[in-house]
Amino acid sequence: MRENWKSRIGFIFAALGSAVGLGSIWRFPYVVGENGGAAFILLYILCLLLIGFPVLLSEIVIGKATQKSPSLAFKELTKSDIWAKAGKMTLITGFVISSFYSVVAGWGLGYLIEAIKGNLTTIETSTQAVSRFTSLSANPYWCVGFHFIFLVLAVAVLFSGVRKGIEVGSKIMMPLLLFVLGVLVINGLSMPDGMKGVKFLFSPDFSTVTPQVFLMALGQAFFTLSLGQGTMIIYGSYLPKKDKVFNNCGIVVILNTCIAILMGVAIFTAVFSTGIEPTSGPALLFETLPLVFTKISGGYFFSILFFLLVTIAALTSEISALEPMIAYLIDRKKMARKKAVLLTSIGAFILGVPSALSFSLLTNVAFNMSFFDLVSFVSINILVPLGGLSAVLLVGWKTKKHLVDLLEDKHKSVQWYFTVCTRYVAPVLIGLILLDLLGVY
Ligand code: PHE
Repeated sequence: MRENWKSRIGFIFAALGSAVGLGSIWRFPYVVGENGGAAFILLYILCLLLIGFPVLLSEIVIGKATQKSPSLAFKELTKSDIWAKAGKMTLITGFVISSFYSVVAGWGLGYLIEAIKGNLTTIETSTQAVSRFTSLSANPYWCVGFHFIFLVLAVAVLFSGVRKGIEVGSKIMMPLLLFVLGVLVINGLSMPDGMKGVKFLFSPDFSTVTPQVFLMALGQAFFTLSLGQGTMIIYGSYLPKKDKVFNNCGIVVILNTCIAILMGVAIFTAVFSTGIEPTSGPALLFETLPLVFTKISGGYFFSILFFLLVTIAALTSEISALEPMIAYLIDRKKMARKKAVLLTSIGAFILGVPSALSFSLLTNVAFNMSFFDLVSFVSINILVPLGGLSAVLLVGWKTKKHLVDLLEDKHKSVQWYFTVCTRYVAPVLIGLILLDLLGVY
């Protein structure tokens, strides 16, 4: 018997817990910064509407219809071994993501400790903020240590089962996160030159749009909704049969996007006010916020609360990235849950170590990229879109009408949107973007 979410709200909180994490808090602002601001945000929203949301619906429906983990689900719906392999690929993607995700989450945890020590409220200049992050992330013990501790926390939650841990975690986290973001946004808007940040985010310059920018927007849309790696198939399999998919998923997409945009405003108002480079990359959040915490009243309290919430948000996402592999080991290999959790987490730790060392020892492994850049690029921009593509193709073309029925939506417009997007719009757009990556044009 599968463990079901307690209620509709339970599912929404769990899916939100998976979606809302480092993707919207840490990654969204820096890819916006690297890809030209407002025009990227518009592309990103377009990708969410035309690709991300239909893929999310497809994955949830696949899970709900089969009540199985990805490779078994793909096999059951298609009766084909090739599709089962596509399902299996998503397991590996999730596993790879969980390995470097935990490294960044480890930075968040490390910054929580810095906040408690009072070190995030004594940073006056952007040079100090940059050198603090650079020296911490270049310390292999700091990076590997917190990567390890973070995974131990994830194991602790996973041992108690999916439902309790994730549902409770995100129920507490979400309202608090919105509160802290509200404070940071209001503060950011009142900073000198803060409005320049708002302009950067909301007044588009389309001359910055290239196919590469499209690829990044697509990758971000997939990553932030935890798509293409089995997570949402698993979560769909825990959704009670009678629950409506469209509305539940719509709430998740809207709330997650709101959090990303609020985070963008909080960061870029501060970036333009303090002189941090918008193109600082993965360091952006960690370099910008200490300057804010040093200035605002109650900064000590807010710095602790913020990084505590980042850690919890990352935890509920990390768990959901590990879960497909764990479910596979339990369903397919008949492993006991605790053993499956331990094995997967130890694997994620080992694979994460080179990512953790990418800011000190392994800064350039191939193509002028660090190990971290390489695995995150390959998984987020190639493997994840491939996983998403297989989900929409399966739902759009390989199954009979009953998957549309499973949406259980009487609204003709919803059925039309779902059918057109899964059959044509999403596969064509994902295909075009991936072909561009191969240098076809
Ligand atoms: N969506 C999560 C986030 O934005 C990341 C994630 C990716 C979680 C893949 C699970 C699976 O932080």
